[in-house]
Amino acid sequence: MKGVIFNLVEDIVTEANGPDAWDDLLEAAGLEGAYTALGSYGDDQLFALVDAAASASKLPPDDVMRHIGRKSLRLMAQRFPEFFTLHTSVRTFLLTLNGVIHPEVRKLYPGAQTPHFDFSEEPGGAILMDYHSARTMCPMAEGLTLGAGDHFGETLAITQTQCKKHGADYCTLRIAVE
Ligand code: HEM
Repeated sequence: MKGVIFNLVEDIVTEANGPDAWDDLLEAAGLEGAYTALGSYGDDQLFALVDAAASASKLPPDDVMRHIGRKSLRLMAQRFPEFFTLHTSVRTFLLTLNGVIHPEVRKLYPGAQTPHFDFSEEPGGAILMDYHSARTMCPMAEGLTLGAGDHFGETLAITQTQCKKHGADYCTLRIAVE
């Protein structure tokens, strides 16, 4: 996982709980810290941070990861406005993940391993987003998508209809724009 993701987590933790909170979290997770945006670090380090934050907040790790995703999107929108300005809705924004956003991310952060999404639509208009990744970070995908809803001023109801953690080949998020 690229250091830029760890930098986002640091910003979110510091913004919510003050400058000492990040050091406390690193200590609780048994990590050194000092992540550089372009560096690559083991996914286990991100999971250790999520677990430590989950213990501290008494929330399930998936909720913590969803929260990180949701808050990250706002910071990404500040740092990469060009990915957002062409859009006014979550739907069109999501459809550029595979062709524009993540390919650009892989150029900016060599070695980044971004997920791939397949999209389809239910007759009623809900978006079905299949999440393909070697990782099982579906709560992050859900949180980022909720953050996109916040960004575009849309209320989303997201349910996960299948999950790799429960034996499916990939995870599917059903996204209804309310
Ligand atoms: C709703 C929109 C988005 C979704 C659902 C999404 C989803 C994800 C997920 C789930 C991951 C974790 C890696 C994996 O599961 O394989 C990831 C990685 C990443 N994404 Fe996105 N993403 C979104 C938007 C963005 C945007 C706007 C940016 C940057 C401007 C971005 C940059 C990255 C980076 C840097 C990584 C780390 C890859 C690595 O370290 O190997 N993503 N994305």
